[in-house]
Amino acid sequence: MADEMANITLNGKTFSFPVHSGTEGEKAIDISKLRQQTGYIALDDGFANTGSCESKITYIDGEKGILCYRGIPIEVLAENSTFIETAYLIIYGELPSRKEMSNFSQKVLRNASLHESMLHFFDGGFPFTAHPMAILSSLLNSVGCYYPQMVTNQREQDLEHFDDAAALLLSKVRTIAAMAYRMKNGLPLIYPKRDLGYSQNFLHMMFTEPYHEYYPHDDITKALDLIFLLHADHEQNCSTSTVRMVASSGANLFASVSAGVCALWGPLHGGANQRVIQMLQEIHDSGDDGTKFIEEAKAGKTKLMGFGHRLYKTYDPRAKILRAAAEKVLQVVKLKDPLLDIAQRLEEKARSDSYFIDRNLYPNVDFYSGIILKAIGMPTDMFTVMFAIGRMPGWIAHWREVAEREKGKIIRPRQIYVGSPRRDYVKMRHREGEISSDYESDDHKSYGGGASENAAAKA
Ligand code: SDX
Repeated sequence: MADEMANITLNGKTFSFPVHSGTEGEKAIDISKLRQQTGYIALDDGFANTGSCESKITYIDGEKGILCYRGIPIEVLAENSTFIETAYLIIYGELPSRKEMSNFSQKVLRNASLHESMLHFFDGGFPFTAHPMAILSSLLNSVGCYYPQMVTNQREQDLEHFDDAAALLLSKVRTIAAMAYRMKNGLPLIYPKRDLGYSQNFLHMMFTEPYHEYYPHDDITKALDLIFLLHADHEQNCSTSTVRMVASSGANLFASVSAGVCALWGPLHGGANQRVIQMLQEIHDSGDDGTKFIEEAKAGKTKLMGFGHRLYKTYDPRAKILRAAAEKVLQVVKLKDPLLDIAQRLEEKARSDSYFIDRNLYPNVDFYSGIILKAIGMPTDMFTVMFAIGRMPGWIAHWREVAEREKGKIIRPRQIYVGSPRRDYVKMRHREGEISSDYESDDHKSYGGGASENAAAKA
């Protein structure tokens, strides 16, 4: 029996529902028997008030700006960990021992290359104009074809190969991303190197020139590694919820993360980082000091991209870390980027404007990440791909959390129908002679008659 109950009174009758408490004190009314007991369903546009599951992976307190991976604050990990070590933590629930870290890193490294026959995808498989997120979602699913033992859609078997599949996806997502960039820019594909770290190897595969092997400056590698780490998970965001939904049908890890990439691509979600830079560039090119743009955002004509968040009603803790990192990277690359000045001015203006204050709109993870990516030479159409590489550990961990659930339910929300009830539609149309019953056509004959004939025949 729950220690607290929530009562709902409908038509004079009171129904009680148990209240669940999370380990950080969050409260949830369990309405899993609501329809069975009352005949009613709950309706919650965008699920802003609805928990889809219980999870042990990430905790967020949006009011206080708290983000923890497996209980460890993001600030501690940003300061002391690396992306791959944090990926291990998110996937397996504990920080790795030295030996575990060495084994995991080796496994990731060993899986960096793609099967040679996959390279044909980059030789005419996509137009040069293809967006890298379209290439990424396609090829993440395609990679699974080379490992049939990992994509059986039989829970036990797919879970048996989980460790290999996880390391493989973490590693290959980076190689596919780099090769997509190279193909789009008419550059030869670069193979990963065995003696480079995760982010270093990625930058090497991205920016090596035919006449010059590229090895990034340590600070550049650290900046990108920090971006990946800060994106590694964020509980039930749109793309992770997509991964969980696809996983709930019994689908394998490769299909699930491929669907996650598609959800992340949207401009309201992971696609925002690309839109932020485009917005800052437009403001810069127009000579506006940001005032005009903010007025347009307040009038609902546009959105201040990189601002606002479903959960954070204070500064996104990741944005705070990225703002400082952006300033540091610009010093390292000795770049004076006017877009950073515009971003900081825009933030100051927005944070002193009642429209944004009243709605608790603060910079989110996307507001400053683009400045860093631009400073290290990443083209804007690769920005959301960076988000996807970073988010891969979270997607993998959430897939496993769904797959390991005993008797886990397929995710299938209900709805309220607001269309026109038209039970007698066909008969009415017949009565009005609009659909003549001897209406003949080859199409109708070949398909055994349309809905109207079938219904009329039954009438
Ligand atoms: C990510 O969920 C996650 O965890 C996501 C993420 C992750 O790590 O996975 O954190 C990553 O997706 C960050 C968000 C990136 N998106 C953007 O920066 C796009 C701009 N932001 C907005 O589109 C918006 O803030 C959302 C989508 C992020 C959140 O939208 P909500 O929670 O549905 O809030 P809302 O749209 O209902 O906005 C409430 C009010 C509205 O005004 P009113 O109708 O009350 O008058 O605030 C306004 C909105 O118009 N508003 C904005 C705004 N964001 C909200 N107005 C101007 N500019 C904005 N950016």
